[in-house]
Amino acid sequence: EMTLRAGIFGYPIGHSISPAMHRAAFGRMGFDATYDAWEIKPEGLGEAVDGLRAKDCLGANVTVPHKQAVMAHLDEIEDLARNIGAVNTIINDGGRLVGTNTDALGFITSLRNEGGVEPGGMAALLVGAGGAARAAAYALASEGVESLTIANRTVERAEALAGEIRETGTDARAIGMEEKGLAAACESAGLIVNSTSVGMLHGPAEGRSPIPAGAIAAGCVVYDMVYNPPATPLLEAAEKAGAVCVGGLPMLVYQGAESSRRWTGRQPPVDAMFGAAKEALGL
Ligand code: ATR
Repeated sequence: EMTLRAGIFGYPIGHSISPAMHRAAFGRMGFDATYDAWEIKPEGLGEAVDGLRAKDCLGANVTVPHKQAVMAHLDEIEDLARNIGAVNTIINDGGRLVGTNTDALGFITSLRNEGGVEPGGMAALLVGAGGAARAAAYALASEGVESLTIANRTVERAEALAGEIRETGTDARAIGMEEKGLAAACESAGLIVNSTSVGMLHGPAEGRSPIPAGAIAAGCVVYDMVYNPPATPLLEAAEKAGAVCVGGLPMLVYQGAESSRRWTGRQPPVDAMFGAAKEALGL
């Protein structure tokens, strides 16, 4: 029996908590496999991806800046990943490389399990229109939200995404980040999701909230994909307003769990993955 291997492609990759999380999952399952952080420069991506076809390789996770570029090197891309326009997980199926995106399921599962939310029928406000937002938007559309408002600094990006979501049959519209429009959108939303880096530790907008203060209604569900700090300015405001709060760590864990499930064919131990992720973050 050979030891199998998986890992994550990124550049830079030093900060990733995925190795800790996946090693914990493999270990707890008694699944003989390693998981490493593979720092791959853009010019080396094709060769690195080809290496995944080896017999002992399960596949890989893919993160910044490779999630889009990696698609050109794969043999098959699942529909959801193609719609989202990003692959975060590669599965080595006997030398054929299949690309999928587990962020969407990670988002919905964390929303359900941590927030107690059934998104079907809700009016949702999504802040951001990048890769993470696209995963959330397609996930919310497939869950049957009643409406989706997409707010983004670059409004053209929100408009493009809203147009794609409307094609799936879901009512979607785009707005900019002006305070008045955002506050009005918050008022009518049962679910507010931040997919931008606003509020992220060491990020360009550390210490800030993407939503105007006072706009969050009690009883609303506020989901922040930012996981560090655990209590972002947005979640602190949401907590004060009496909203249900969900941080970004559960999405990270559930997307990883779905990747692990695809590689191993088993249901990974989510509790062990949470523990390892928190420890790796020093929480
Ligand atoms: P990811 O894959 O994490 O979603 P991305 O594709 O680079 O990363 O998208 C980042 C998102 O955060 C975008 O919606 C971006 O807004 P723009 O499309 O206008 O660039 C948003 N974002 C990043 N920094 C921001 C800031 N300081 N204020 C508002 N939005 C910001």
